[in-house]
Amino acid sequence: MRTGPSGAPFLLVTDRNFDPMDASLQQIVEDARAAMAAAAEPAALANAKARFLGKDGALTQRMKALGKLSAEERSVVGRELNEVKQAVERLVVEREAAIEQAQLQGRLAQEAIDVTLPGRGLGAGGLHPITLTIERIEAIFRSIGFDVADGPEIEEDFYNFTALNTPENHPARSMHDTFYVDARDANGHGLLLRTHTSPMQIRYARMHKPPIKVIAPGKTYRVDSDATHSPMFHQFEGLWVDEDISFTDLKSVYTDFLRQFFETDELDVRFRPSYFPFTEPSAEIDMRFHDGPLAGRWLEVSGSGQVHPNVVRNIGLDPERYIGFAFGSGVERLAMLRYGVGDLRLFYESDLRFLAQFNV
Ligand code: PHE
Repeated sequence: MRTGPSGAPFLLVTDRNFDPMDASLQQIVEDARAAMAAAAEPAALANAKARFLGKDGALTQRMKALGKLSAEERSVVGRELNEVKQAVERLVVEREAAIEQAQLQGRLAQEAIDVTLPGRGLGAGGLHPITLTIERIEAIFRSIGFDVADGPEIEEDFYNFTALNTPENHPARSMHDTFYVDARDANGHGLLLRTHTSPMQIRYARMHKPPIKVIAPGKTYRVDSDATHSPMFHQFEGLWVDEDISFTDLKSVYTDFLRQFFETDELDVRFRPSYFPFTEPSAEIDMRFHDGPLAGRWLEVSGSGQVHPNVVRNIGLDPERYIGFAFGSGVERLAMLRYGVGDLRLFYESDLRFLAQFNV
Protein backbone atom coordinates (compact mmCIF):
# COMPACT_ATOMS: atom_id res chain seq x y z
CA MET A 1 0.00 0.00 0.00
CA ARG A 2 1.22 3.46 -0.77
CA THR A 3 1.71 5.74 2.16
CA GLY A 4 1.77 9.49 2.57
CA PRO A 5 4.51 11.57 4.22
CA SER A 6 3.22 10.78 7.67
CA GLY A 7 3.53 7.10 6.94
CA ALA A 8 -0.22 6.65 7.06
CA PRO A 9 -1.76 4.98 4.04
CA PHE A 10 -3.54 7.50 1.96
CA LEU A 11 -5.28 7.83 -1.35
CA LEU A 12 -2.96 8.73 -4.10
CA VAL A 13 -4.70 11.78 -5.38
CA THR A 14 -2.04 13.75 -7.15
CA ASP A 15 -4.00 15.75 -9.62
CA ARG A 16 -7.52 16.88 -10.29
CA ASN A 17 -8.11 14.15 -12.85
CA PHE A 18 -7.70 11.33 -10.43
CA ASP A 19 -9.27 8.02 -11.20
CA PRO A 20 -12.82 8.33 -9.85
CA MET A 21 -12.64 4.85 -8.33
CA ASP A 22 -9.14 4.20 -7.07
CA ALA A 23 -7.89 0.76 -8.02
CA SER A 24 -6.85 0.17 -4.42
CA LEU A 25 -10.45 0.72 -3.31
CA GLN A 26 -11.64 -1.87 -5.81
CA GLN A 27 -9.04 -4.16 -4.34
CA ILE A 28 -10.40 -3.57 -0.83
CA VAL A 29 -13.87 -4.65 -1.93
CA GLU A 30 -12.44 -7.76 -3.58
CA ASP A 31 -10.34 -8.55 -0.53
CA ALA A 32 -13.37 -8.09 1.70
CA ARG A 33 -15.47 -10.35 -0.51
CA ALA A 34 -12.85 -13.09 -0.26
CA ALA A 35 -12.37 -12.64 3.49
CA MET A 36 -16.11 -12.81 4.19
CA ALA A 37 -16.54 -15.89 2.03
CA ALA A 38 -13.73 -17.59 3.92
CA ALA A 39 -15.36 -16.90 7.31
CA ALA A 40 -17.24 -20.08 8.24
CA GLU A 41 -18.57 -19.06 11.63
CA PRO A 42 -19.51 -15.87 13.52
CA ALA A 43 -16.15 -15.37 15.29
CA ALA A 44 -14.22 -15.62 12.02
CA LEU A 45 -16.68 -13.22 10.42
CA ALA A 46 -16.19 -10.70 13.25
CA ASN A 47 -12.42 -10.85 12.67
CA ALA A 48 -12.82 -10.41 8.93
CA LYS A 49 -15.12 -7.45 9.50
CA ALA A 50 -12.59 -5.82 11.83
CA ARG A 51 -9.90 -6.13 9.18
CA PHE A 52 -11.82 -3.64 7.05
CA LEU A 53 -14.16 -1.72 9.32
CA GLY A 54 -12.48 -2.02 12.72
CA LYS A 55 -10.48 0.70 14.48
CA ASP A 56 -7.34 -0.17 12.52
CA GLY A 57 -9.25 -1.54 9.55
CA ALA A 58 -8.20 -0.78 5.97
CA LEU A 59 -11.21 1.45 5.32
CA THR A 60 -11.01 3.22 8.64
CA GLN A 61 -7.43 4.16 7.86
CA ARG A 62 -8.54 5.59 4.58
CA MET A 63 -11.27 7.59 6.28
CA LYS A 64 -8.76 9.04 8.68
CA ALA A 65 -6.57 10.06 5.77
CA LEU A 66 -9.39 12.15 4.30
CA GLY A 67 -8.46 15.07 6.53
CA LYS A 68 -5.27 15.55 4.58
CA LEU A 69 -7.08 16.20 1.32
CA SER A 70 -8.37 19.43 -0.10
CA ALA A 71 -12.07 20.11 0.37
CA GLU A 72 -12.76 19.29 -3.24
CA GLU A 73 -10.89 16.02 -3.17
CA ARG A 74 -12.34 15.13 0.18
CA SER A 75 -15.89 15.27 -1.10
CA VAL A 76 -15.17 13.03 -4.07
CA VAL A 77 -12.96 10.57 -2.27
CA GLY A 78 -15.25 10.66 0.77
CA ARG A 79 -18.23 9.64 -1.35
CA GLU A 80 -16.22 6.82 -2.87
CA LEU A 81 -15.04 5.64 0.48
CA ASN A 82 -18.61 5.67 1.75
CA GLU A 83 -19.75 3.56 -1.16
CA VAL A 84 -16.95 1.08 -0.55
CA LYS A 85 -17.75 1.02 3.15
CA GLN A 86 -21.42 0.32 2.44
CA ALA A 87 -20.43 -2.40 0.00
CA VAL A 88 -18.23 -4.06 2.62
CA GLU A 89 -21.01 -3.72 5.22
CA ARG A 90 -23.42 -5.40 2.85
CA LEU A 91 -20.95 -8.23 2.37
CA VAL A 92 -20.75 -8.67 6.15
CA VAL A 93 -24.53 -8.71 6.57
CA GLU A 94 -24.99 -11.16 3.70
CA ARG A 95 -22.33 -13.43 5.08
CA GLU A 96 -23.85 -13.19 8.56
CA ALA A 97 -27.20 -14.34 7.21
CA ALA A 98 -25.59 -17.15 5.23
CA ILE A 99 -23.70 -18.43 8.28
CA GLU A 100 -26.84 -18.30 10.43
CA GLN A 101 -28.76 -20.17 7.78
CA ALA A 102 -26.05 -22.83 7.48
CA GLN A 103 -25.97 -23.28 11.23
CA LEU A 104 -29.73 -23.63 11.40
CA GLN A 105 -29.68 -26.21 8.62
CA GLY A 106 -26.95 -28.11 10.44
CA ARG A 107 -28.94 -28.12 13.66
CA LEU A 108 -32.11 -29.21 11.89
CA ALA A 109 -30.27 -32.05 10.20
CA GLN A 110 -28.74 -33.12 13.51
CA GLU A 111 -31.99 -33.00 15.42
CA ALA A 112 -34.03 -34.51 12.66
CA ILE A 113 -36.59 -37.02 13.81
CA ASP A 114 -37.23 -39.91 11.51
CA VAL A 115 -40.93 -40.37 11.94
CA THR A 116 -40.83 -43.55 9.90
CA LEU A 117 -38.74 -45.38 12.55
CA PRO A 118 -40.69 -47.82 14.73
CA GLY A 119 -41.53 -46.38 18.18
CA ARG A 120 -39.45 -47.34 21.17
CA GLY A 121 -42.62 -48.00 23.16
CA LEU A 122 -43.06 -47.69 26.89
CA GLY A 123 -40.98 -50.44 28.44
CA ALA A 124 -43.33 -52.42 30.63
CA GLY A 125 -42.11 -52.58 34.22
CA GLY A 126 -41.53 -55.93 35.80
CA LEU A 127 -41.72 -57.55 39.20
CA HIS A 128 -38.65 -57.71 41.42
CA PRO A 129 -37.02 -61.17 41.53
CA ILE A 130 -37.82 -61.43 45.25
CA THR A 131 -41.47 -60.66 44.54
CA LEU A 132 -41.46 -63.21 41.71
CA THR A 133 -39.96 -65.77 44.09
CA ILE A 134 -42.56 -65.07 46.78
CA GLU A 135 -45.36 -65.40 44.22
CA ARG A 136 -43.92 -68.71 43.12
CA ILE A 137 -43.72 -69.96 46.72
CA GLU A 138 -47.31 -68.84 47.40
CA ALA A 139 -48.61 -70.60 44.29
CA ILE A 140 -46.96 -73.89 45.26
CA PHE A 141 -48.31 -73.83 48.83
CA ARG A 142 -51.77 -72.68 47.77
CA SER A 143 -51.90 -75.68 45.44
CA ILE A 144 -51.67 -77.98 48.48
CA GLY A 145 -54.24 -76.09 50.51
CA PHE A 146 -52.20 -73.51 52.46
CA ASP A 147 -53.63 -70.08 53.18
CA VAL A 148 -51.35 -67.03 52.69
CA ALA A 149 -51.17 -64.43 55.48
CA ASP A 150 -49.44 -61.12 56.03
CA GLY A 151 -48.51 -59.32 59.25
CA PRO A 152 -46.73 -56.31 60.74
CA GLU A 153 -43.02 -55.72 60.30
CA ILE A 154 -42.89 -53.51 63.39
CA GLU A 155 -43.78 -56.21 65.85
CA GLU A 156 -44.44 -56.53 69.53
CA ASP A 157 -41.75 -58.07 71.63
CA PHE A 158 -44.44 -60.48 72.78
CA TYR A 159 -45.17 -62.01 69.35
CA ASN A 160 -41.58 -61.99 68.16
CA PHE A 161 -40.16 -63.62 71.29
CA THR A 162 -42.30 -64.24 74.38
CA ALA A 163 -45.19 -66.13 72.78
CA LEU A 164 -42.61 -68.14 70.82
CA ASN A 165 -41.22 -69.59 74.01
CA THR A 166 -38.10 -67.45 73.77
CA PRO A 167 -36.97 -66.57 77.29
CA GLU A 168 -35.83 -63.09 78.35
CA ASN A 169 -32.18 -64.13 78.37
CA HIS A 170 -32.19 -65.78 74.93
CA PRO A 171 -29.30 -64.50 72.77
CA ALA A 172 -31.66 -63.72 69.87
CA ARG A 173 -33.02 -60.93 72.06
CA SER A 174 -29.62 -59.27 72.14
CA MET A 175 -29.11 -55.83 70.61
CA HIS A 176 -26.50 -57.42 68.36
CA ASP A 177 -29.19 -59.25 66.45
CA THR A 178 -32.33 -57.20 66.81
CA PHE A 179 -33.37 -53.69 65.78
CA TYR A 180 -35.38 -52.36 68.68
CA VAL A 181 -37.81 -49.52 68.16
CA ASP A 182 -37.30 -46.63 70.56
CA ALA A 183 -40.98 -46.40 71.40
CA ARG A 184 -43.82 -48.45 72.78
CA ASP A 185 -47.22 -49.04 71.24
CA ALA A 186 -50.48 -47.61 72.64
CA ASN A 187 -50.70 -50.50 75.11
CA GLY A 188 -47.18 -50.00 76.38
CA HIS A 189 -45.76 -53.02 74.55
CA GLY A 190 -42.12 -53.03 73.56
CA LEU A 191 -41.63 -52.84 69.77
CA LEU A 192 -38.97 -54.13 67.40
CA LEU A 193 -38.46 -54.92 63.73
CA ARG A 194 -39.46 -58.57 63.51
CA THR A 195 -36.39 -60.80 63.33
CA HIS A 196 -38.31 -63.62 61.66
CA THR A 197 -41.79 -64.36 60.29
CA SER A 198 -42.50 -66.72 63.21
CA PRO A 199 -44.65 -64.16 65.09
CA MET A 200 -47.16 -64.85 62.32
CA GLN A 201 -47.57 -68.35 63.72
CA ILE A 202 -49.09 -66.82 66.85
CA ARG A 203 -51.03 -64.02 65.14
CA TYR A 204 -52.60 -66.29 62.55
CA ALA A 205 -53.26 -69.29 64.77
CA ARG A 206 -55.01 -67.15 67.38
CA MET A 207 -57.49 -65.98 64.75
CA HIS A 208 -58.21 -69.31 63.09
CA LYS A 209 -59.50 -72.70 64.13
CA PRO A 210 -57.64 -75.93 63.30
CA PRO A 211 -56.77 -77.19 60.87
CA ILE A 212 -54.37 -74.27 60.72
CA LYS A 213 -52.47 -74.36 57.48
CA VAL A 214 -50.75 -71.17 56.43
CA ILE A 215 -47.66 -69.62 54.97
CA ALA A 216 -46.70 -66.03 55.82
CA PRO A 217 -44.08 -64.44 53.58
CA GLY A 218 -42.62 -61.02 54.28
CA LYS A 219 -39.77 -58.77 55.30
CA THR A 220 -37.65 -59.46 58.34
CA TYR A 221 -34.78 -57.53 59.92
CA ARG A 222 -31.55 -58.36 61.66
CA VAL A 223 -28.35 -56.50 62.51
CA ASP A 224 -26.35 -58.30 59.87
CA SER A 225 -24.76 -57.30 56.56
CA ASP A 226 -22.43 -59.09 54.14
CA ALA A 227 -22.56 -60.92 50.79
CA THR A 228 -25.07 -63.43 52.13
CA HIS A 229 -26.81 -61.32 54.80
CA SER A 230 -28.75 -58.10 54.43
CA PRO A 231 -30.21 -56.16 57.40
CA MET A 232 -33.56 -56.48 55.62
CA PHE A 233 -34.39 -59.81 54.08
CA HIS A 234 -37.40 -62.00 53.42
CA GLN A 235 -38.67 -65.18 54.98
CA PHE A 236 -41.75 -67.25 54.62
CA GLU A 237 -43.18 -68.97 57.62
CA GLY A 238 -45.13 -72.20 57.33
CA LEU A 239 -47.45 -73.58 59.96
CA TRP A 240 -49.66 -76.64 59.86
CA VAL A 241 -51.45 -77.58 63.08
CA ASP A 242 -54.12 -80.22 63.41
CA GLU A 243 -54.82 -83.33 65.47
CA ASP A 244 -52.47 -85.61 63.58
CA ILE A 245 -49.79 -83.65 61.77
CA SER A 246 -46.40 -85.24 62.28
CA PHE A 247 -42.77 -84.64 61.41
CA THR A 248 -43.33 -87.01 58.48
CA ASP A 249 -45.75 -84.48 56.99
CA LEU A 250 -43.13 -81.76 57.38
CA LYS A 251 -40.61 -83.87 55.51
CA SER A 252 -42.90 -84.70 52.64
CA VAL A 253 -44.44 -81.22 52.33
CA TYR A 254 -41.08 -79.46 52.34
CA THR A 255 -39.34 -81.95 50.05
CA ASP A 256 -42.21 -81.70 47.60
CA PHE A 257 -42.09 -77.91 47.80
CA LEU A 258 -38.38 -77.83 46.94
CA ARG A 259 -38.84 -80.16 44.00
CA GLN A 260 -41.63 -78.00 42.62
CA PHE A 261 -39.77 -74.78 43.33
CA PHE A 262 -36.61 -75.92 41.51
CA GLU A 263 -38.59 -77.89 38.92
CA THR A 264 -36.52 -80.99 39.46
CA ASP A 265 -36.63 -84.23 41.40
CA GLU A 266 -32.85 -84.37 41.14
CA LEU A 267 -32.25 -83.02 44.63
CA ASP A 268 -31.89 -84.45 48.13
CA VAL A 269 -33.29 -83.02 51.34
CA ARG A 270 -32.02 -83.69 54.84
CA PHE A 271 -33.28 -82.66 58.25
CA ARG A 272 -30.36 -81.86 60.52
CA PRO A 273 -31.04 -81.69 64.27
CA SER A 274 -31.02 -78.14 65.58
CA TYR A 275 -32.53 -75.95 68.25
CA PHE A 276 -35.27 -73.33 68.23
CA PRO A 277 -37.12 -72.33 71.38
CA PHE A 278 -40.49 -72.64 69.64
CA THR A 279 -40.10 -76.12 68.13
CA GLU A 280 -39.26 -79.48 69.65
CA PRO A 281 -37.69 -81.39 68.04
CA SER A 282 -36.09 -78.83 65.74
CA ALA A 283 -34.20 -79.25 62.48
CA GLU A 284 -32.36 -77.27 59.86
CA ILE A 285 -33.46 -78.26 56.38
CA ASP A 286 -30.58 -78.72 53.97
CA MET A 287 -30.80 -79.54 50.28
CA ARG A 288 -28.35 -80.55 47.61
CA PHE A 289 -28.63 -80.67 43.84
CA HIS A 290 -27.52 -83.68 41.86
CA ASP A 291 -26.38 -81.59 38.91
CA GLY A 292 -25.25 -78.10 38.10
CA PRO A 293 -22.54 -75.89 39.57
CA LEU A 294 -23.64 -76.57 43.15
CA ALA A 295 -23.98 -80.34 42.71
CA GLY A 296 -23.22 -82.32 45.85
CA ARG A 297 -23.02 -79.35 48.24
CA TRP A 298 -25.43 -79.29 51.16
CA LEU A 299 -27.15 -75.90 51.35
CA GLU A 300 -29.17 -74.76 54.34
CA VAL A 301 -32.56 -73.40 53.27
CA SER A 302 -34.80 -73.42 56.33
CA GLY A 303 -35.31 -73.84 60.05
CA SER A 304 -38.13 -76.12 61.09
CA GLY A 305 -39.56 -78.35 63.74
CA GLN A 306 -42.57 -79.71 65.54
CA VAL A 307 -44.46 -76.87 67.19
CA HIS A 308 -43.47 -76.70 70.88
CA PRO A 309 -46.30 -77.56 73.31
CA ASN A 310 -45.85 -74.15 74.97
CA VAL A 311 -46.47 -72.45 71.62
CA VAL A 312 -49.56 -74.61 71.04
CA ARG A 313 -50.74 -73.40 74.44
CA ASN A 314 -49.86 -69.77 73.59
CA ILE A 315 -52.09 -69.89 70.54
CA GLY A 316 -54.93 -71.08 72.73
CA LEU A 317 -54.99 -74.78 71.85
CA ASP A 318 -54.57 -77.90 73.96
CA PRO A 319 -51.13 -79.44 73.30
CA GLU A 320 -52.53 -82.81 74.33
CA ARG A 321 -54.82 -82.66 71.34
CA TYR A 322 -53.10 -80.50 68.73
CA ILE A 323 -49.77 -81.03 67.13
CA GLY A 324 -48.10 -79.68 64.03
CA PHE A 325 -45.01 -78.38 62.35
CA ALA A 326 -43.57 -75.04 61.44
CA PHE A 327 -40.78 -73.87 59.23
CA GLY A 328 -39.19 -70.55 58.38
CA SER A 329 -37.19 -70.25 55.17
CA GLY A 330 -35.11 -67.54 53.56
CA VAL A 331 -36.59 -66.20 50.33
CA GLU A 332 -33.32 -64.65 49.11
CA ARG A 333 -31.49 -67.93 49.62
CA LEU A 334 -34.01 -69.77 47.44
CA ALA A 335 -33.99 -67.01 44.81
CA MET A 336 -30.17 -67.05 44.69
CA LEU A 337 -30.15 -70.81 44.19
CA ARG A 338 -32.87 -70.77 41.58
CA TYR A 339 -31.40 -67.93 39.52
CA GLY A 340 -27.70 -68.56 40.24
CA VAL A 341 -27.13 -65.19 41.96
CA GLY A 342 -23.86 -65.11 43.91
CA ASP A 343 -24.29 -61.94 45.97
CA LEU A 344 -27.47 -61.19 47.88
CA ARG A 345 -26.83 -57.44 47.74
CA LEU A 346 -27.54 -57.44 43.99
CA PHE A 347 -31.22 -57.77 44.86
CA TYR A 348 -31.20 -54.39 46.60
CA GLU A 349 -29.00 -52.21 44.39
CA SER A 350 -31.85 -51.35 41.98
CA ASP A 351 -29.53 -51.86 39.00
CA LEU A 352 -31.84 -52.29 36.02
CA ARG A 353 -29.21 -54.31 34.13
CA PHE A 354 -29.58 -56.92 36.86
CA LEU A 355 -33.31 -56.59 37.49
CA ALA A 356 -34.40 -56.57 33.82
CA GLN A 357 -33.09 -60.11 33.40
CA PHE A 358 -35.91 -61.48 35.53
CA ASN A 359 -38.64 -60.13 33.29
CA VAL A 360 -38.07 -61.56 29.86
N1 PHE B 1 -37.73 -68.43 62.85
C1 PHE B 1 -36.58 -69.29 62.66
C2 PHE B 1 -35.44 -68.43 62.11
O1 PHE B 1 -35.67 -67.34 61.62
C3 PHE B 1 -36.86 -70.39 61.65
C4 PHE B 1 -37.91 -71.35 62.14
C5 PHE B 1 -39.23 -71.14 61.85
C6 PHE B 1 -37.53 -72.46 62.85
C7 PHE B 1 -40.18 -72.04 62.27
C8 PHE B 1 -38.48 -73.36 63.28
C9 PHE B 1 -39.78 -73.16 62.99
O2 PHE B 1 -34.29 -68.82 62.14
